[in-house]
Amino acid sequence: MKLWGGRFRKEENKLMESFNSSLAIDKRLVYEDITGSLSHVNMLIKSKILTEPEGNKIIEGLNSILTDIENKELLVNGDYEDIHSFVETNLINRIGETGKKLHTARSRNDQIAVDMRLYAKKKSADVIEAIELLQNNLKMKADENVIIMPGYTHLQRAQVVTFKHHLMAYFQMLDRDKTRIENAKTLMDESPLGCGALAGTTHNINRDTTAKALGFEKPVTNFLDGVSDRDYLLELMSCFSIVMMHLSRLSEELILWSSQEFNFVEIDDAFSTGSSIMPQKRNPDAAELIRGKTGRVYGSLFSLLTTMKGLPLAYNKDMQEDKEPFFDSVDTTLSCLEIMSQIIDTLKANKENMEKSVRKGFLNATELADYLVKKGVPFRDAHSVVGSIVIYCEDNEKGIEELSLEELKSFSSDINEDIYAYIDYHKSLNRGIKKTLIE
Ligand code: ARG
Repeated sequence: MKLWGGRFRKEENKLMESFNSSLAIDKRLVYEDITGSLSHVNMLIKSKILTEPEGNKIIEGLNSILTDIENKELLVNGDYEDIHSFVETNLINRIGETGKKLHTARSRNDQIAVDMRLYAKKKSADVIEAIELLQNNLKMKADENVIIMPGYTHLQRAQVVTFKHHLMAYFQMLDRDKTRIENAKTLMDESPLGCGALAGTTHNINRDTTAKALGFEKPVTNFLDGVSDRDYLLELMSCFSIVMMHLSRLSEELILWSSQEFNFVEIDDAFSTGSSIMPQKRNPDAAELIRGKTGRVYGSLFSLLTTMKGLPLAYNKDMQEDKEPFFDSVDTTLSCLEIMSQIIDTLKANKENMEKSVRKGFLNATELADYLVKKGVPFRDAHSVVGSIVIYCEDNEKGIEELSLEELKSFSSDINEDIYAYIDYHKSLNRGIKKTLIE
């Protein structure tokens, strides 16, 4: 059954019918679609557009559809154009003529807009929850591992940091990710129900009532805007892309750190895989997949940005193409957050090797320069003196702390016995604001 058959002289082409059908994709909106319809009908009754018996019959019918879907007695599939046609046709089949009144003062254009906003709000809350779980695991792992390790810039050893501080950097990134999603949720918190196809309706409906019943802050201000923008999806997909960028950087570090070359961490067997030919291999597939899937989430964002860029107001069928990218973006982000939480939870830090690595690469050179500054040497001069000391150390294959006081003094008479405590890799973390690295 078509919702719009009246003005057509010919049957729809079969190929066109399946080309046009979105049920396989938008079936996941069934709960939101029925919830939206229930609020709509309740408002129609209150506004005296439907009589109470009519409205109640529709409400009963919609609820019975919902129950049957939940009990798997009714499957959401078949030859329907979309989720709206599925629900409306099933309603009419169940309750008869009265069912045909459900769509009074409504269009599928405001209907889909409200479904998507409800779904996006719900899913954003799931993403926030998954971010919080990962943050908890990062914090726990960080607190258990106040281990010194090399910090890098340009992937060259730079200065001593702690594994704790390194992990907590991601905690902060995720905190901003959470705020970004919360902000996006606030901005999209307006109900498009009542915009109709694009121009509202001549019925005296009450958009405040439906907005409130559906948990929105208020109705949208402009009808054309309400049915035709998908910026709220784009904004969430931008937020998810940034989450994925963060997860991808963390994945990249886990991949590097778990290599023989670094050997800083061990990713649990449960999140690694082997090779079909090389018996010794243990590959960090979970982290690589997260890094790889980041590309997909970016792709989804660009796909919808591109779909939207040239569309005149108001609704165009192009916009049906918002579903696959949005669903894929949110599903992928959620599953990556979940996996990353577990990778972090089961991660083993290789303390011995991290501490050993700190000793190669002159990671205390900046501390030596700071020491000279404290003795009154201008920083630029101190930098140059330490540069010469580093060349000397390289030539003699020694760390700065392995030089004798005599050797050190030959570069600067300001260096005294207290230098060894000052450049000690552990002790230096108790000086100045470096305490933050161990707190
Ligand atoms: N399936 C459509 C979508 O997802 C719903 C709105 C259809 N409206 C219309 N006038 N064809 O965008």
